[in-house]
Amino acid sequence: MTDHSLLQRIQKTQEDFQFKLNKVRSTDDLEAVRIAYAGRKGIVSDLFNQLGSISPAERKEAGKSLNALKQTITEAIQESEKKLTSKGVQQKYDLTLPGEPGFTGRLHPLTYVLREIKSCFYNMGFSIAQGPEVETEYYNFEALNIPKGHPARDMQDTLFIDDDIVLRTHTSPVQIHVMENQPPPVRIIAPGRCYRRDTPDASHSPFFHQVEGLCVDEGVGFADLKGIILTFAKRMFGSDMKIRFRPSFFPFTEPSAEYDFSCLICRGRGCRVCKGTGWVEISGAGMVNPAVFQYVGYDPEKYTGYAFGMGVERIAMLLYEIPDIRLFYENDIRFLNQF
Ligand code: DAH
Repeated sequence: MTDHSLLQRIQKTQEDFQFKLNKVRSTDDLEAVRIAYAGRKGIVSDLFNQLGSISPAERKEAGKSLNALKQTITEAIQESEKKLTSKGVQQKYDLTLPGEPGFTGRLHPLTYVLREIKSCFYNMGFSIAQGPEVETEYYNFEALNIPKGHPARDMQDTLFIDDDIVLRTHTSPVQIHVMENQPPPVRIIAPGRCYRRDTPDASHSPFFHQVEGLCVDEGVGFADLKGIILTFAKRMFGSDMKIRFRPSFFPFTEPSAEYDFSCLICRGRGCRVCKGTGWVEISGAGMVNPAVFQYVGYDPEKYTGYAFGMGVERIAMLLYEIPDIRLFYENDIRFLNQF
């Protein structure tokens, strides 16, 4: 082998090394290149061995370029290593910058409002009860003192599964389930879905949510009912919220009332939401009818109780000034993103 060819080989090694280094993508790749070129039995050390077989005069020049090659390779490997390891990454990217925020989901407004309602009543000593969404006619009507043929049934034009089975039209039947299963005192709320054969419009939906409330004990009166509803209204909407009760009729309460919250949108001055009255209707309430106590075997001479209903969509619409109930169910991300 001549010095000329050795110089050529050095040159060629330099080019090959550069080519291989350009292909390196990982520290493992780099290590393989390092072993092949700069390792103890690598190409560079092999070239050094060959120095001995050329003439001393020519050895000088070849030695010089071989040393230069060795240095180039060593430095290039170090440089590449820096880029591949975190030290290199740190130089390239500023790791102290805050990250991109990830996408987190959020609660549906009805879920949020339902949770708020539950926590308000829970904090006032009510426990949470549940009942089936598919009811017998007995629980949905009969035991609530709404006998067959009673006009009060017409108001809840219903979805029957067969003669006796109905999708519950209100959460009031949970009152019966609870009282059948425990003696007084009772202090529960029962949130859940209800179904009615209603044509959807801005304020009606064939399915919707209610929260039923029931309190039975000795000496419970209408003032307790008013106190609970007022406390709830203030906690949910703020301390300047007012309530009012209007006489009404429900077969399972006597006396019965409908209750309203003052309109937050116009602060009582009158607007479209409250139809100019300053009040928004929430639901019904009253003192439990002794006839209902008889269905569940409570002694009406000893116990009294109050009950109330509450439309969850109503509360949410009032809270967020939502003009159309259908918005809750359409799953439109532009609507949902606002909460
Ligand atoms: N269940 C009634 C409805 O859906 C609302 C209601 C009225 C519930 C009076 C009550 C009550 O507990 O006492 O229209």
